[in-house]
Amino acid sequence: MDRPAAEKRIARLREEIRAHDHAYYVLDRPKIADSEYDRLFHELKELEEAFPELRTDDSPTQRVAGRPVEGFATVEHRAPMLSLDSAAEEETLVRFDERLRKALGEEGPPTYVVEPKLDGASVELVYTDGLLTDAVTRGDGRRGEGILENVKTIAAVPLKLREERLPAPALLAVRGEVIMRLEDFERQNEELVAAGREPYANPRNAAAGALRQLDPRRTAERTLDIYLYDVLAAEEPPPLATQWEVLEALRSWGLRVNDLPRRAREVAEIAAYHRDLIERRDDLPYEIDGVVVKLDPLAARERLGATSHHPRWAFAYKFPPRREVTRLLSILPSVGRTGVVTPVALMRPVELGGVTVSRATLHNREEVARKDVREGDLVRIQRAGDVIPQVVERIEEPGRGRGEPFEMPARCPSCGTALTERGPFTVCPNSFDCPAQLVGRLVHLSSRRALDIEGLGEETARLLVDKGLVRHLPDLFDLTAEQLLELAAELKEEVDAGRRERTRSFAEKSAGKLVEAIRAASRPELARFLYGLGVPEVGVTVAASLARQFGDFDRVRRATEE
Ligand code: IVH
Repeated sequence: MDRPAAEKRIARLREEIRAHDHAYYVLDRPKIADSEYDRLFHELKELEEAFPELRTDDSPTQRVAGRPVEGFATVEHRAPMLSLDSAAEEETLVRFDERLRKALGEEGPPTYVVEPKLDGASVELVYTDGLLTDAVTRGDGRRGEGILENVKTIAAVPLKLREERLPAPALLAVRGEVIMRLEDFERQNEELVAAGREPYANPRNAAAGALRQLDPRRTAERTLDIYLYDVLAAEEPPPLATQWEVLEALRSWGLRVNDLPRRAREVAEIAAYHRDLIERRDDLPYEIDGVVVKLDPLAARERLGATSHHPRWAFAYKFPPRREVTRLLSILPSVGRTGVVTPVALMRPVELGGVTVSRATLHNREEVARKDVREGDLVRIQRAGDVIPQVVERIEEPGRGRGEPFEMPARCPSCGTALTERGPFTVCPNSFDCPAQLVGRLVHLSSRRALDIEGLGEETARLLVDKGLVRHLPDLFDLTAEQLLELAAELKEEVDAGRRERTRSFAEKSAGKLVEAIRAASRPELARFLYGLGVPEVGVTVAASLARQFGDFDRVRRATEE
């Protein structure tokens, strides 16, 4: 290919790849298969290698993590990054609304945009003539740290703005939140714990930590995401009149904008949105900790102005806390489906963001030792997403006597096999005959992303194993309605005789229904089945790749290392 032809082809490839990046990372709506994308990317890379003089900074190939730096430069924000006035009480919201009504007076009642308050790290992105030229942490609000190289590794951040609907301003500084999705947060913490290092307390700290890595390759490993919500400054700005239009403009430039914001007029509507998000909070793939209420018209905002700390036109209506203090009653070694024995904290029940919690994980023996928590201690616990609650720290109580340090048992509390150590973890090596591991595997197999068997939760799984109805995973599919009816009758007797507490899940449910659900799940999609087996390292994504590559289970079994 000659140079002019290469130049044309390179321009075309870049445009196509950018459009696919936008569809995949910003809109969550991929338009082509991964393999096709890889082909385009590879072709572009080869052409740029053949014609290095045609390489430019905004090429999609330049997103690769750069060299480690000694430290970050201090960068002044294009406009101050203020904080928000906040409260968790509805009265404070009512007063905020009254203040705005009074201040706007003649102009008529305020209109608002309500948005989720994303629990991440605030950043400023700067685009000069449409190209990403700077990225800055919030810092003290006036100056932050220049983290451009790290931000470039976030796939959802465009290196170049789209100009389909609005031209890119000569200079555009936008503000948003860098977040770590709960799935990535959990995976990263598992890796840290496995490496004997301390896990991050929450996704916000993890995101902030990833952004401040001196080696951009470390940031790239941590799969961050971003949502933009504000224009901080613009030269030659397009005429935007409201926050709602700002969000639309950000979208049109190809920036990622959250899809939960709504418009509202009355306090009652805002309160309903707040309640609705509290309910959906556990189903979102990222952590939010409140609702941000923003006056919609920008001109009115301008007049209201800001205190030195926060704008007068916005308010953060926070959610009830998911951190509480409670008493640790005991530490119970609990065997999971992979055989890892996790010390579980049993606590005096407390409410955490609307859910009553009485158990929390302490990860492994090293974590228990590091946090030095013992039975009887006062502890701070927290919950993020629907992640298992965690013990954050012990709270000192001077003058109060303490229990003995926790020690792992020498034998498996479920099957009695001698436990072994694997790094910081304690493991029961009796993989196929340990009842506790079998219970864990049954629960995993029936979970939503595996075979999705309704009515087969932890309690039922434990009953099936305890009563000897399931000794190995495949036995599940041989269960008959008669066996389960017998079990139900037996349980009822035990409950009546006071030998067992009323079981919530099983006795009351028809045995037939469970058999029906198991039958319905007995010809699963390959990917779900592979995931449901609970093979180490085979999560939902790997299972899907294996299924796509091999097509049926026999081929997966016969697959060689190559
Ligand atoms: S607006 C001047 N909108 O919350 C107003 N902030 O507690 C600027 N945050 O530092 C903030 N989601 O990092 C706004 N949808 C959202 C937000 C949001 C999260 C963060 C932001 C701010 C903090 C204040």
